[in-house]
Amino acid sequence: MSTERYTVSFTPEGKSARVRSGTSLLAAARTAGVHIPVRCEGKMGCLMCKVTLEPGSGGVLPPAEAERRKLGAALDHGVRLACQAKVCGEISVETPEDPLKRAVRLQLEKQREEDDFWR
Ligand code: FES
Repeated sequence: MSTERYTVSFTPEGKSARVRSGTSLLAAARTAGVHIPVRCEGKMGCLMCKVTLEPGSGGVLPPAEAERRKLGAALDHGVRLACQAKVCGEISVETPEDPLKRAVRLQLEKQREEDDFWR
């Protein structure tokens, strides 16, 4: 394994970790303190660790055949399995928003819009 280290940034958390080349995005997330829910711990069974990369971003190695089969067309939209994608450069990763946080955020945005309407 290479000893080169790269910064992996996570949004919307705004956290990052500096990890060795070849580290999985899931391990990088854990290093950064970003929670990505999983059930299979990297065995490609749960598919819960999907993250999104900027299309064409080069900070991870190309997917192996097994990951290609699991993700299909989603790969074209920058989706990768965090447990399989290996870091090989600086990269920004978008993690799925927690459903509860999403519900709270949407409620706050709706409330803000209503408040703005009455001003
Ligand atoms: S951790 Fe289950 S598929 Fe990645």
